[in-house]
Amino acid sequence: MTGVESTAAWKALTAHFAATSKTHVRDLFAADPSRFDKMSLKFEDLLVDYSKNCVTEETMNLLYNLAEESDVIGKAKAMFAGEKINNTEGRAVLHVALRNQSNTPIYVDGVDVMPEVNEVLAKIKTFTENVRDGTWKGHTGKPINTVVNIGIGGSDLGPVMVTEALKPYSKRDLKMLFCSNVDGTHIAEILKQCDAEQTLFLIASKTFTTQETMTNAGTAKKWLLDYYNGDASSVAKHFAALSTNAAAVSAFGIDTTNMFGFWDWVGGRYSLWSAIGTPIALSLGFDAWMEMHAGAHAMDQHFLNADPKDNVPLTLALIGIWYNNFHEAESLAILPYDQYMHRFAAYFQQGDMESNGKYVCKDGERVNVQTGPIIWGEPGTNGQHAFYQLIHQGTKLVPCDFLAPIETHNNVAKDLGAPIDHHPILLSNYFAQTEAMAFGKNADQVRAELQGEMTDADAIEALVPHKVFEGNRPSTSFLFQKLTPRMLGVLIAMYEMKIFAQAAVWRINAFDQWGVELGKALAKKILPELGGSDEVTSHDSSTNGLINYYKANKK
Ligand code: F6P
Repeated sequence: MTGVESTAAWKALTAHFAATSKTHVRDLFAADPSRFDKMSLKFEDLLVDYSKNCVTEETMNLLYNLAEESDVIGKAKAMFAGEKINNTEGRAVLHVALRNQSNTPIYVDGVDVMPEVNEVLAKIKTFTENVRDGTWKGHTGKPINTVVNIGIGGSDLGPVMVTEALKPYSKRDLKMLFCSNVDGTHIAEILKQCDAEQTLFLIASKTFTTQETMTNAGTAKKWLLDYYNGDASSVAKHFAALSTNAAAVSAFGIDTTNMFGFWDWVGGRYSLWSAIGTPIALSLGFDAWMEMHAGAHAMDQHFLNADPKDNVPLTLALIGIWYNNFHEAESLAILPYDQYMHRFAAYFQQGDMESNGKYVCKDGERVNVQTGPIIWGEPGTNGQHAFYQLIHQGTKLVPCDFLAPIETHNNVAKDLGAPIDHHPILLSNYFAQTEAMAFGKNADQVRAELQGEMTDADAIEALVPHKVFEGNRPSTSFLFQKLTPRMLGVLIAMYEMKIFAQAAVWRINAFDQWGVELGKALAKKILPELGGSDEVTSHDSSTNGLINYYKANKK
């Protein structure tokens, strides 16, 4: 297989970029008063405005040609049909089956997976409802008031992000704690907040072998057993497992009746729709979690069926490719103007970077083009007072996604009697930033402003270059009615499918993650070397030097 750079569409885009790269978005708006209408999309009550990007209608047409020549939707259909598109692991990729609320059969190796999916969902529903209404009792007969999810990566980030994003829907008297880091500080601080008699530990690990998770789970189990003077029967009332590995769950001492399973065709970073989402159902209620599934399912169907030019994830993917591969932008900032979404960018750091951070094509050949971008971001307006300086006036091009709800969950003027309504202030910043990024402020405007403030002409001229905003900084705006479970499902699936579409164009496998293995293997080799007083000589001089310095100074 040859690379995407050899396609006719790519070559046409290369020529188009050379001819148009100096075009300013300000001129594009001036030339076409209907640019916003032409370049904004609607999906349910989500408005996606991509008009402030450095693209023309011709750019978009060429990008849609690229999608067609790359057979993006054909590849998506193969995924939805249960084909083993994760070729390096020989697996199907079916997180979409977990939210397949139309219940149409999906076959893997000739077996419809939907009955099993529905069976596990029903088991999670009963379990989570029992915990929430107090039917489920701890070892001494008390109801659960604290849930500790122990997991890392995809077994942590999704439930953390969602339970934060949808906190207004949560059961406020059920404390949700998430332990991921193997740094003992994490579990130590969490256990300080727990009453052993009312705490439920969820050990969340697809493989049930992950070092961090198994270490934290072991510590939590010992803590519980110490409390109950070693009474092993307490474990059944305080531990449940979310995993694909029943044997390891049993070996750890968790009864598999307290295990909620999933399958090898659910990737870790796509697993919040599976049993890994159990903490979400505990916190928000099973029905709210299902509303997320419904929103995601609707977005899946949109991605599969919408005309390319109306297709939100496809359009976003192509715009991302335009910046990544032609403008040579290195990153994408995800900037939610919603405090509840404060872990959204962190969630998609794994979602995007673990999926598309690949330098090898599916066929094993080295890619000749840039692949996945660096994902980063913080909620507005905090980011404005931290890193937006670089976005507006730095030397790097940083495409940005701005997300905001029209309605807030916290009308503080009404609810708290605040003297000023906060939400319009928040949204005025959301609107202002993309305007400033796109249109900037030219030297004449700066000069005119300064002349109203000072008279020294030399001083004015000295300041002008510092106060000019070149503009032409791209952004896409996402404006949705309210951050409901359904809308969060829509937004997550939108980014998931965008990531899929980009991988399809770059011809990489978005569903393996071999790049995390080497560090894990080396850590296992180093761990025994940290004990004793022998000098370590088995590594390079830097690694040896660091380890030996640590050994000489540890207390
Ligand atoms: O960091 C690699 C990774 O395999 C992720 O893909 C995954 O989400 C995470 O580790 C946790 O894995 P597990 O759920 O098997 O503990």
